[in-house]
Amino acid sequence: MSILGLVTLSQAAVVAALCFVVGRALYNAFFHPLAAFPGPRLWASSRLPYATNLIRGRLHQRLKLLHDQYGPVVRIAPDELSFTVDAAWHDIYCGGYGNKGFPKHNAYRNAQTFVSLFDADDENHTRLRNLLGKEFFSLNSARRQERIVQEYTTLMISQLRKQYVENKRPADMREWYNFLTFDVAARVTLSEDFGCLEKRTYHPWIEMVLTHFKLSALLMISRFYPPSSSLLFTLAPAKLMEMRDTFIRLVREKIERRMNRTLPPDDNDDFVTAALGKGIEKGLTRDELEANCILLLLAGSETMTTSLLGATHYLCENPTVLRRMVAEVRAAVSSEEQLTFGFITENMPYLNAVLKETQRLCPPVANGPARVVNRPSTLIAGFPVPEGTAVGVTQFAANRQTSNFTRPNDFVPERWLSVEQAGQIGERIGDSALAQDVEQFVGDVRSVVRPFVVGGRDCIGQNLSWVEFRVVLARMVWNFDMEVVREDKFPSFNQWTEQKAFELWQKEPYHVRLTERTH
Ligand code: HEM
Repeated sequence: MSILGLVTLSQAAVVAALCFVVGRALYNAFFHPLAAFPGPRLWASSRLPYATNLIRGRLHQRLKLLHDQYGPVVRIAPDELSFTVDAAWHDIYCGGYGNKGFPKHNAYRNAQTFVSLFDADDENHTRLRNLLGKEFFSLNSARRQERIVQEYTTLMISQLRKQYVENKRPADMREWYNFLTFDVAARVTLSEDFGCLEKRTYHPWIEMVLTHFKLSALLMISRFYPPSSSLLFTLAPAKLMEMRDTFIRLVREKIERRMNRTLPPDDNDDFVTAALGKGIEKGLTRDELEANCILLLLAGSETMTTSLLGATHYLCENPTVLRRMVAEVRAAVSSEEQLTFGFITENMPYLNAVLKETQRLCPPVANGPARVVNRPSTLIAGFPVPEGTAVGVTQFAANRQTSNFTRPNDFVPERWLSVEQAGQIGERIGDSALAQDVEQFVGDVRSVVRPFVVGGRDCIGQNLSWVEFRVVLARMVWNFDMEVVREDKFPSFNQWTEQKAFELWQKEPYHVRLTERTH
């Protein structure tokens, strides 16, 4: 064939490809079965806007704006709908096989390079959840794990006192909560002391975990365009890939070490013990054990850091709330030892409301997670949705909708209290204004806030999360007065929403001046 012929052929191929892309985009925007759903035409015509926002860590913010503009259901990609109504939680995530709701979308399920509970298909998920010990994640178990949380909280508080209170220097609480939650996760999973709090170092593990989540976002995108999957693997910055691989290799080494070690009888109830106890003889493979240890280290540390940092940030920004919570904690007990999980749960309704309000404004899993409709046609929150559509409740958007909450962007724990409860707390802490703040929120749709998701694939670690969240925050305000610092040398983000979110939030430094409590 002549050169002219070749050129003409390649031109024709380019024109054909362009026609295909444009034709497909037009079909998606105007003729697709989801065409009648509200949303921007650009997002409906191609997944590119979704993908670029996810890669930039801005997807949660864009989705919130889209819901503000278009309402409770928005078409956010050619084949995906995002919901912000409460009923969608039940319709998407519950019912069906094992009450697991619709199956996870492949893009989310396979965003890792290992198969854990999180990534398993529904059948394997049931097998793994049974094998890995529901008991290990029960409330009773979490109460036993409290001693580990208390031990590391004591260490964190003593380090903060030595390094910052005595030296009058502000502490970056993002780092310290990361140290704490990582130490707790490693101990609960592997009986390993990572020593982050002790050595006061930003352990390379933590950076590796953050890298891991960034890469997962990239991999997630690549799953939407199957041929690009291997290409993206090749294009991903070598340093990111290397860090992620190093992280997984190091965890594997730690697991190997743990399996060759016999634990003392009074400290032998970590996850590996629970998994090995029933698991291996009933068919749990070594790869599955490793994958789930990695999952626990990832899922248990970053989510908790988000919650603790979110609460600290919103408390520092809202002096009245901080004053009320401090008053409740300090009036309820006469010594720090009394601040146990059980006591805080029963006796500190204001603190518990602060934690719920934090989860509303800073949901650790900001976007989704998405599922795929696998029935010919189904109703989700009253909307008929065709088979094959990806669907999810977008937590960040749902939790900040005016249709769900009065003053949705304000941090107001009072919205979680009944008028009666608020009156009693007000009396206890001598603050009669507290009860007046409650009535305006009676119409709030509190049940839309589901940080742990619902149904058979919900968060298995929620009991431990509540132990950690309550104990750490109560003991922080028992010990210290706190105030945010914003100086060139000690930066702090201004607004929680400025931060990026990939699979999880990428948190920025937040410097707090801690002083010994004055009353
Ligand atoms: C505030 C803290 C936490 C939040 C908001 C949270 C949230 C979530 C969410 C939303 C899921 C479901 C994701 C999906 O459906 O795709 C999940 C799953 C999971 N979480 Fe958590 N999590 C938290 C803390 C923890 C902790 C402390 C642990 C470990 C002890 C943990 C372990 C897991 C595991 C193993 C799964 C997978 C469960 C399964 O698929 O069966 N999480 N978490």
